[in-house]
Amino acid sequence: MACIVVVGTQWGDEGKGKVVDLLTNKADAVVRYQGGNNAGHTVMFGDKKFITHLIPSGILQKTTSILGNGVVIDPEELINEINGLKEMNISVDKYFYISDQAHLVMPWHKKFDLLREEQKGNKKIGTTGRGIGPAYEDKIRRSGIRIGDLLHKGDFKNKLEEIVDEKNQILNFSFKINDETFNAEKLFLEFEKYIEKLKPFICNTPDLINNLIDNNKNIIFEGAQGSFLDIDHGTYPYVTSSNTLSGGACTGSGIGPTRITDVLGIVKAYTTRVGSGPFPTELFDKYGMLLQSEGNEFGATTGRTRRCGWFDAVLVRNAVLINGITSIAVMKLDVLDKFKYIKIAIGYKLPNGKISGNIPSSLENVTPVYEEMPGWNCKTLGITDYEKLPLEMIAYLERISEIVGASVSIISTGPKRENSIFVKHENLL
Ligand code: IMP
Repeated sequence: MACIVVVGTQWGDEGKGKVVDLLTNKADAVVRYQGGNNAGHTVMFGDKKFITHLIPSGILQKTTSILGNGVVIDPEELINEINGLKEMNISVDKYFYISDQAHLVMPWHKKFDLLREEQKGNKKIGTTGRGIGPAYEDKIRRSGIRIGDLLHKGDFKNKLEEIVDEKNQILNFSFKINDETFNAEKLFLEFEKYIEKLKPFICNTPDLINNLIDNNKNIIFEGAQGSFLDIDHGTYPYVTSSNTLSGGACTGSGIGPTRITDVLGIVKAYTTRVGSGPFPTELFDKYGMLLQSEGNEFGATTGRTRRCGWFDAVLVRNAVLINGITSIAVMKLDVLDKFKYIKIAIGYKLPNGKISGNIPSSLENVTPVYEEMPGWNCKTLGITDYEKLPLEMIAYLERISEIVGASVSIISTGPKRENSIFVKHENLL
């Protein structure tokens, strides 16, 4: 039995989708525990590219796929995703479960997300606009609607009327919008359709997951976003609104910490970030552009261009600590094939002139201290034999592993499943 949490160690988009897909053939279930359809997990399915936003990517291999209580769910988007899968002849019917405790992303959450970003002007967070922050706000404020509430139509209708009233007041008074108010009656009719579609999947997922563990099943907890978008440990306020770290797998799915057997950290061989916020190793020159074009760095959810920069070992070392990472998967190494040299940030020069190897309370105004390594300058895309990797790449991997303090278990040399090298098996499923 193994319970492995797969987490991003940077600002998301490290390649978690591919790794989860790789491990899924040995897994009995894949669980999402936080975030919503702000995530975009890209998986190559044969020659087809598929991006899952809500449903765990395990569904592509007909593995039990669970949306845990910590996830926020936009029902319309979820149904679109289910329909998209059906069009690819992937039926979710026997494999998909939704926690009755998961909160709903409602139309006002999406509206307020966009309006708040507009109000913030150049201080905007650069959210995905999917209503994630406002949905978690209502959850914490104890005024959200949960998936399970949909099953009690009368109560749901009353709750909707109350909430719609309040949300319209916010729309009128805080945003000065009077002509696009929400209508409880119309929404109820819309949601009645959603209820019918989603009802068969709704259940008590903590029971389901703990039963699977009791029966010695292998489970993957699929993190969304990355460690430095975590609401507590990320570059606040430029973060998402959930706990993206491995600890979130416990609260977001209803298992105890003692159930987790491993934490696999997903590391991109360089760094990217979407949206606003500090990014010490960001490159604004031809190397940044090369990373962007070679790495095809466009957001899977919003299509936005990702900001690119050198590998920041200070960040990832911290991610190893705060997640309890037991090994790392290094992704997209082939993107560096054309680089003559590669830099690794091993510390920061702080605004007071001091050099630090640790993460300061704010990453604003720090300057990275770099170490330089020779590039390998040859094509490595698709290499599957560790011995055939160029020596410079092996040296780069060994250095990363040494600085961040975790051994490398998987190396990815391309987007397809087969472009992968398992270095060390014993820690994984
Ligand atoms: P939100 O999660 O939509 O509220 O966005 C908050 C921040 O997290 C923004 O900077 C987004 O760009 C970022 N973000 C949210 N989801 C992802 C993701 O899946 N990958 C990378 N960045 C993300």
